[in-house]
Amino acid sequence: MEQEPQRDLRALGPASAGFPTTRLRRLRHHPGVRELVRETRLSPAGFVLPMFVRRGQDARHEIASMPGHCQWSLDLFENEARRIAALGLGGIILFGIPDRKDEQGSEACDDDGIVQNAVRAAKRAAPELLVITDVCLCEYTGHGHCGVVNDRSGRVDVDNDATLRLLGRQAVSHARAGAEMVAPSGMIDGMVGAIRAALDAAGFEHLPIMSYAAKFASAFYGPFREAAESAPAFGDRRGYQMEPGAGAGQALREIELDLAEGADIIMVKPALAYLDVIAAARQRFPGVPLAAYNVSGEYSMIKAAAQRGWLDERAAALESLLAIRRAGAGIILTYWAEQAAEWLAGNRRTMTL
Ligand code: PBG
Repeated sequence: MEQEPQRDLRALGPASAGFPTTRLRRLRHHPGVRELVRETRLSPAGFVLPMFVRRGQDARHEIASMPGHCQWSLDLFENEARRIAALGLGGIILFGIPDRKDEQGSEACDDDGIVQNAVRAAKRAAPELLVITDVCLCEYTGHGHCGVVNDRSGRVDVDNDATLRLLGRQAVSHARAGAEMVAPSGMIDGMVGAIRAALDAAGFEHLPIMSYAAKFASAFYGPFREAAESAPAFGDRRGYQMEPGAGAGQALREIELDLAEGADIIMVKPALAYLDVIAAARQRFPGVPLAAYNVSGEYSMIKAAAQRGWLDERAAALESLLAIRRAGAGIILTYWAEQAAEWLAGNRRTMTL
């Protein structure tokens, strides 16, 4: 038998292809190829728009710390809801500014409260728009803390278990008004379980809970506190929100407990300074829908820089959203939801990003 002449494979190229065989810029040469290999894509269907509502007529109070956002009176909010519904967003999340605040945050649980009325208004105007409500007492209490406050041995703190009952009632009241999902944000131990039990007892066992499971005590909530008029009158939130220096492991423990209590969707908040926590949550709980809150400070920083001409708002905002998505959040609560939906619709036509 004649032997095949041995091929000199070296003539066909090196075994491991480095430069110049491999040129990574080939994948960046044509815009169509860049788009094909980009992997992380944004869609308006994954965005949730936070909105602020208050009493009054024909009122549109601009929020100075968050350019482009307003506190809406319900008549104008109805038109807004109709307009927003056409953008194809994942939904809206509502925050209410009540007329009166008291120690117990009574209006939070009132079927005739501001958020309850806003939910009904949204459902009337745009039945197809998904309405989520924030469940927390900080907008409703005179002291601005996220629960009932007591003074134990000279240390003012939120009374965990007394707060749970109120959160359950607030969630049920939102559900009765027509909210399609509730989102507890107070970082009160047991809040998800208490709300789940209250909803189930009231016949809302189908209603999902999106838990602000790993929420850090962040300076980036600053502009929101003007928007929601919810700054604490004394002290801070470090007794219930997580320490920013706490590792992702502690955040995972928070998330694990919320899941055990029945959370359907978990959230990490803020987003940009906590991308490591988002990535860790994605890896550890691949089967659970994961949300991230691109908070007010993250929005206002870029807005302010853009107003001075220091940053291109569209590019910086979309890059931020892309980073949050790439870290693993499928749902992004963002004040750019509306603009981003418009930008993305434009991109599809011009393929510039
Ligand atoms: C209420 C709540 C806050 C935010 C969402 N829900 C404020 C806070 O915890 O102080 C912040 C949202 C933002 O900054 O965009 N508990």
